[in-house]
Amino acid sequence: MKIISARDYGHMSRQTANIISAQVILKPDCVLGLATGSSPIGTYRQLIDWYRKGDIDFSQVRTVNLDEYVGLDASNDQSYNYFMCHNLFDHINIDPDNTNVPCGVNPDAEGECARYDAVIRSMGGIDLQLLGLGPNGHIGFNEPDDCFSRHTHKVALTEATIQANKRFFEREEDVPRFAYTMGIGDIMNARRVVMVVSGSGKASIVKEAFFGPITPRVPASILQLHRDFTLVADEAALSQI
Ligand code: GLP
Repeated sequence: MKIISARDYGHMSRQTANIISAQVILKPDCVLGLATGSSPIGTYRQLIDWYRKGDIDFSQVRTVNLDEYVGLDASNDQSYNYFMCHNLFDHINIDPDNTNVPCGVNPDAEGECARYDAVIRSMGGIDLQLLGLGPNGHIGFNEPDDCFSRHTHKVALTEATIQANKRFFEREEDVPRFAYTMGIGDIMNARRVVMVVSGSGKASIVKEAFFGPITPRVPASILQLHRDFTLVADEAALSQI
């Protein structure tokens, strides 16, 4: 595990964008695993800026997102599909056919999860997976549990996640209770994993996840075993280690 200590959110975002940009330059048709949440937005803004300056070309890049709320379609502004278009895809020269997000409105959960795993397999796996960190240690929507999950599955969101994510919705009742998420196995199979974490509110979970025992109760702790895992965090998020 490598830790890159950034001064603040802006610095963390630029450092992370540099790593992603190097990946795209070295392998123009790479597979990027992408994340939502407030943590990677600055990284996406920096990548858009470099694309506009002519420094990065996304024309051959393929992407696969971590997760999606069950019940929200791509036109819903709280869906992760919408988030990705709004925060990245609409502003770069990526081919929309090369982008993948689980389909939140497919009522056939088993079918949707199997379809998504087949998409990841057909791409030959993920070259670089970007992650944020949930306040309870979740990655994607892999919530604290008794065991680690292997593949894409439907998950019931915990009360902690509903509370953390309600800030994006008009009313707490609007927060979906279920999501489709890549499994821990899918994430661990990525050839490189990069996590962005910012702010003092994440300091204790950073300590627990990366300096505590490896346990499905803190899903991100499994990343301690990944061969190429880099944590890019600002000083506030690293303040307890
Ligand atoms: C959501 C997403 C996660 C993300 C987490 C943290 O629950 N499913 O992928 O890492 O939020 O979000 P934030 O970066 O806003 O703290």
